[in-house]
Amino acid sequence: MTNEKTSLWGGRFAGGPADALARLSVSVQFDWRLAPYDIAGSRAHARVLAAAGLLDPDELGQMLAALDDLEAACASGEFRPTIDDEDVHTALERGLLERLGALGGKLRAGRSRNDQVATDLRLYMRDHARGVAQAVVELADALTEQAANNVNTAAPGMTHVQHAQPVTFGHWLLAHVQPLLRDLDRLRDWDARTAISPLGSGALAGSSLPLDPAAVAKELGFTAPAPNSMDAVADRDFVAEFLFITSLIGVHLSRLGEEVVLWTSTEFGWVELDDAFATGSSIMPQKKNADIAELARGKSGRLIGGLVTVLTMLKGLPLTYDRDMQEDKEPVFDAIETLELLLPALAGMISTMTVRVDRLTAAAPVGFSLATEVADWLVRKGVPFRDAHEITGKLVALCSVRECELEDLTDDDLKTVSEHLDPSVRQILTVESALAARTTPGSTGPGPVAEQLAQVQHHLDTWRSWAVEKVVPR
Ligand code: ARG
Repeated sequence: MTNEKTSLWGGRFAGGPADALARLSVSVQFDWRLAPYDIAGSRAHARVLAAAGLLDPDELGQMLAALDDLEAACASGEFRPTIDDEDVHTALERGLLERLGALGGKLRAGRSRNDQVATDLRLYMRDHARGVAQAVVELADALTEQAANNVNTAAPGMTHVQHAQPVTFGHWLLAHVQPLLRDLDRLRDWDARTAISPLGSGALAGSSLPLDPAAVAKELGFTAPAPNSMDAVADRDFVAEFLFITSLIGVHLSRLGEEVVLWTSTEFGWVELDDAFATGSSIMPQKKNADIAELARGKSGRLIGGLVTVLTMLKGLPLTYDRDMQEDKEPVFDAIETLELLLPALAGMISTMTVRVDRLTAAAPVGFSLATEVADWLVRKGVPFRDAHEITGKLVALCSVRECELEDLTDDDLKTVSEHLDPSVRQILTVESALAARTTPGSTGPGPVAEQLAQVQHHLDTWRSWAVEKVVPR
């Protein structure tokens, strides 16, 4: 039952709410995470009320001292929400009333839970986005370090999970870093759009009191107050957009996870996981499983689910605030907490894994992966690619019948298949020459990969300072 003494509403009601309503309505069990941000907003709001003459200097001093005390009590766990507190705002007003008596009731002037919760959530998310970014950077660092050790390691590049062309394993690992760099860019772009302060919008219409939304915005580290009070309390684009980014991060981690599952299989055997980052079986003593990689793959489901939840919840909502919007928070908390759990485990798994250079090198030429080199060799001799493709295809067909490799074909075989072929083609039939021939920017040769590596390292360095930035200045 909602506690009538601390409830933020009730004056016009004959009695208290039914238990079933109270139980459905309560959000404090999850929105308590917003408490420090709500207190930061309260501090800014108290100063604005004082500037407007609605709190005298003495009252402001008491108010700020009580907010500091409440903040410390929340942080230490000495002040906790009770189940009678409908939400974080109710609980904190109770805390303020306990400290200040009637004066505590002055802070709500000109403010609604609608502009408050939108503000709190923006602050919480901007703060935690930096933590997520930091964890993404750590995973990217781990991949980049492994890439640096494998700039010259040949591997069988694949399309359709079939051997396609030789690549360097460093290039492959960096192909998992590039999406993460884009994710970091997305987080920063999102952050700039999210740095708008809803406070001052009240329930929906703004306030008749002489508030100063720009001052509040500045104090809370926002770039500007919201341009439209109705939009400010109805908008959850920043939630949907963030959940898209976390979903996409989830998809990137899932694709990496799937590859690690393949790489660690007996069939591939390209990578061995460190014991500390692998799991065993309760029945099969020999097993060493890549559970972290599988959880990365599996958890992408819940991240995508959170995005779908919020988009579906929002899609038919009339302006402005509707209680449906209380459902926006759990997917956000879950996405952040999922990534905060997953990313360090993945980073540890990647940084400690052993790359089996011997197995990768041996696998690189398998499956006629040098066939394109032959076609390109013919093109350099002036043969149209269409014909070069046909000729090379015939060579592969011949090898398949004979169960041999391209370089095993005799001079006569070459001549028989095409007049354009001669024994000098064998020079390009090595993985090393195929890799060394790839010198254009962004390609897989050791030269361009070393350049890419330097760019990636530089890019990651620029992220480190952003990721530890403080969102709410004190
Ligand atoms: N717990 C609510 C939420 O998360 C806070 C806003 C409630 N506003 C209201 N008008 N009932 O959305």
